[in-house]
Amino acid sequence: MEDSIEMILQEHRGSYTSRHHPILSVCTGALFTGLYSVWSLFVLPGFRKVPLNLKVPYLPSSKDQTLNTMKLLEGRAGRLADLGSGDGRLVFAASSAGFKCTGFEINSILLAYARSKASWTGVPSRQATFVNKDFWKTDLSSYNNVIAFLAPGVMGVLGEKLLKELPDDARVIACRFPFPDWPLQSSVGSGLDETFAYDISRVRSHLRQEPNPVR
Ligand SMILES: C[S@@+](CC[C@H](N)C(=O)[O-])C[C@H]1O[C@@H](n2cnc3c(N)ncnc32)[C@H](O)[C@@H]1O
Repeated sequence: MEDSIEMILQEHRGSYTSRHHPILSVCTGALFTGLYSVWSLFVLPGFRKVPLNLKVPYLPSSKDQTLNTMKLLEGRAGRLADLGSGDGRLVFAASSAGFKCTGFEINSILLAYARSKASWTGVPSRQATFVNKDFWKTDLSSYNNVIAFLAPGVMGVLGEKLLKELPDDARVIACRFPFPDWPLQSSVGSGLDETFAYDISRVRSHLRQEPNPVR
């Protein structure tokens, strides 16, 4: 009897140790801790105040996407806003093409990185400034060039904001996710790197003719 109880206990210990192997537990724990740290460092800061339906996570533009964006800005000049500037890569590309750029970013870690990169690469603040501001709460009427690499779900709301605020001669570049009801000026690239250009004067006159597009 005692022998069989001991056997059952041993079996139980065996299955317990094989299901909860110490190295496996440590690795799983480390993986979750790592993922949580990355998530909280790069996604969480500054996000709590933004409404859930307007939250956009960090995802950097690819090299091609950056080149496509710059192609659609050829021949233009003046002030440029990058709505959610991340590590600053689009701002740096645009400032080296002569634009006076502002990167709006609510993630303080990305903001600190972009600011440090500007200072170690010698980009003057009149060419590139990074501000810790929620662009939804910012008046963008002083910008005649706007870049947005955000998320499909926010493009409709963003379109309404930009139409209210931007001057008639403004151009808006949407990376990867187009505006749902706006007439396209041109686009460059394909797939995930496709980038779309819209001229505000054209969008306004199109929407005057078709004020209530069917979705
Ligand atoms: C998809 S990433 C694009 C980053 C960068 N523009 C690029 O192309 O590499 C979107 C960025 O927008 C920032 N963001 C999201 N909502 C924001 C808001 N309301 N105001 C300012 N930045 C915001 C995020 O923190 C994130 O860095």
